[in-house]
Amino acid sequence: MRSRICGTGSALPKREVTNDDLSKIMDTSDEWIKSRTGIGARHLAVEETLTQLAAQAASQALQEAGVRSEELDMIIAATLSADNILPSLSCELQRELGAKNAVAFDINAACSGFLFALQTADAYIRCGQCQKILIVGGEILSKMVDWNDRSTCVLFGDGAGAAVIQGSETPGILSSVSGSDGAKGEALFCKNRENHNPYVKGATEVSYVSMNGQEVYKFAVRTVPKAILEAVNKAGLLIEDIDLFVLHQANMRIIESVSKRLKVPIEKFPVNLETCGNISAGSVPVLLDAVNQKGMLKKGDKIVLAGFGAGLSWGACVLVW
Ligand code: UT7
Repeated sequence: MRSRICGTGSALPKREVTNDDLSKIMDTSDEWIKSRTGIGARHLAVEETLTQLAAQAASQALQEAGVRSEELDMIIAATLSADNILPSLSCELQRELGAKNAVAFDINAACSGFLFALQTADAYIRCGQCQKILIVGGEILSKMVDWNDRSTCVLFGDGAGAAVIQGSETPGILSSVSGSDGAKGEALFCKNRENHNPYVKGATEVSYVSMNGQEVYKFAVRTVPKAILEAVNKAGLLIEDIDLFVLHQANMRIIESVSKRLKVPIEKFPVNLETCGNISAGSVPVLLDAVNQKGMLKKGDKIVLAGFGAGLSWGACVLVW
């Protein structure tokens, strides 16, 4: 048994915040942000919870797949910014959707999270343990970044994307590649709540996302093309066979560098950085849904999905639409 994506969905918070809006509340400019990253605006959650965004994205994906929520065997949510530490986003989602027959769990692999969720779903279906799996990638990173640190807070946006993965006689997902380098974990870091049990001395502090941007940049431009090539080879294809490359949306310069290194025209790399910023685990599924809804994916098209980020971690998949 193989697996394929048979429905996608996405949801963004209502509030759109442009670079010019940010330049009114901090020392930054549209020129700096756009020229360094390609980001023009991002959606930030004001009233929405991540569970609500994920449920909206999931409902669209289920509808397109023609799958009822009770038919789901499993829900996997990729996030580092769930509404609660307990219960998980996936369990919250299960309740919202009424998916009472599913087992639900979360994956924290930051910007690689959706790829890891997809690869996990694929493995469960291939081994025969599941037939229908909902995967979601989503974040409300605006609550995790330091709004006094202009070098990180301008980069991220909020949102969620979803896909339904189903067992299939004909292959959808052809190959997967993934990896981690925990030794470089400090390059993109956020501490959990401090231990404050009665035996620990010292004040508790809140930690925000911190990033060594240049370190992450170097890692991304080296690792992503390698992982994509490996996944394409593993699928028995050539790089020129691929119709579309749906990459994690961190920085336009990273996407351009991957396109150059792979010698693939930039037109094959759709982007939503301009309006969404970096949604971490949400960026690949939100972009995948956008290209799907625009009718850019035709049956038989060969697509690469790739994510990379904190961990450090990376993942790539080749699939046939
Ligand atoms: O999904 C997570 C993956 N993350 C990434 O892929 C991030 C990869 N890295 C990057 O995209 C880039 O490293 C950044 C866009 C984050 C930063 O670009 P950079 O060219 O590496 O800039 P920098 O950090 O070296 O900063 C250059 C200057 C500094 O000023 P000085 O020290 O040269 O005077 C910063 O203080 O830009 C300044 N700066 C800003 N200026 C205006 C930093 N942030 C801002 C800002 N607005 N928002």
